[in-house]
Amino acid sequence: MDLQGKRILLIISGGIAAYKSLDLIRRLRERGATVRPVMSRAAQEFITPLAVGALSASHVYTDLFSREDEQDVGHIRLARDCDLVLVAPATADLMAKMAHGLADDLPSAVLLATDRPVLLAPAMNPVMWNAAPTRRNLDTLKADGVCLIGPMRGEMAESGEAGTGRMAEPLEIVAAAAALLLPQEKPLAGKRAIVTSGPTHEPIDPVRYIANRSSGKQGHAIAAALARLGADVTLVSGPVTIPDPAGVAVTHVETAEDMLSAVLSALPADIAVMVAAVADWRVVASAGQKIKKKPGEPPAPLLLAENPDILKTVGHHPDRPRLVIGFAAETQEVETNGRRKLDAKGADMIIANDVSPATGIMGGDHNRVKIISSGGIEEWPDLAKDAVAERLAALVADRLSKPA
Ligand code: C5P
Repeated sequence: MDLQGKRILLIISGGIAAYKSLDLIRRLRERGATVRPVMSRAAQEFITPLAVGALSASHVYTDLFSREDEQDVGHIRLARDCDLVLVAPATADLMAKMAHGLADDLPSAVLLATDRPVLLAPAMNPVMWNAAPTRRNLDTLKADGVCLIGPMRGEMAESGEAGTGRMAEPLEIVAAAAALLLPQEKPLAGKRAIVTSGPTHEPIDPVRYIANRSSGKQGHAIAAALARLGADVTLVSGPVTIPDPAGVAVTHVETAEDMLSAVLSALPADIAVMVAAVADWRVVASAGQKIKKKPGEPPAPLLLAENPDILKTVGHHPDRPRLVIGFAAETQEVETNGRRKLDAKGADMIIANDVSPATGIMGGDHNRVKIISSGGIEEWPDLAKDAVAERLAALVADRLSKPA
């Protein structure tokens, strides 16, 4: 990772994790970056400007009202004469100031004045990280385009409490900074992808429907990961409560039939990843009015019809994408059922996972999958759904880089 010539404005705010910022400065400079440090008043309670200045080989900026510093560079130039503003550690207090546009000290004034990418490495007690005001501020900062690395899970330095709040390690922060500073490879540039995600809702009457427990987390993560590699992604999403992923065109649908027509109208494409937990059946004639209980009478039977199989339709379509990938959510005989689906649906790959309630996969943040293709089976370890998406996008890029 070569950061030669990159100029990083490092804001150190006041937390015990500030001790790691000294190592962070060394790691950044080892890679050729120049580091100009800004310290909050509280940061100077944890580490000294002398140490920060020595390691960065730079003047350390601490005071918004310093006559020399303001004459020399000034807080506006500090905010602009850099390629990245990195805040490590970012305290709950500084994040709150940023979210509200406060600017009553040098770090907050610089953050308000900058037009450069901003990367935060938060560090705080887990209870502070989970507190409602921090959650609200975080949402605001994300919506403002601020990037984050961490915090990580682990034991807190001061209290020994475990939870999420530990600052990312210096090398993790360097990697996140590099991802923002260096041009990223876009191996899927110029490729079109269709992804389905979430459940479908099949109406029984105007107020009731048949549904399943799919959250859409895995499908949405895959759509976002493909987009990050440069693909032009259409995400066809059933009803979910999670937000639309960034950089993706989203079509929202309710039923399997609507999902099928949205997918077909997004063809042709190079890649199709059908992650949605499509309802197998729909109610033949959903009632126009709410079905009422009738005293003394048994409940009305529901007559069901099979829904169209979207994956199978796409897998056998004249405009079949070059790479068709399906999922197989199973509760037993995961491999056998996955292999069977590969042929039956005309897919190139089936991602099989065990969704038995004990696994916590359905609706959870983790997934453990097996990749079944004509070449055999590859088993991936237990990973965050985002990490599964990242790996799958890399696999897709690899497959498409080879001759058909
Ligand atoms: O047959 P089963 O539902 O287990 O197959 C799962 C795979 O098929 C998933 O990729 C799912 O998105 C897709 N599927 C579909 N349309 C259906 C049923 C499943 O696209 N009606």
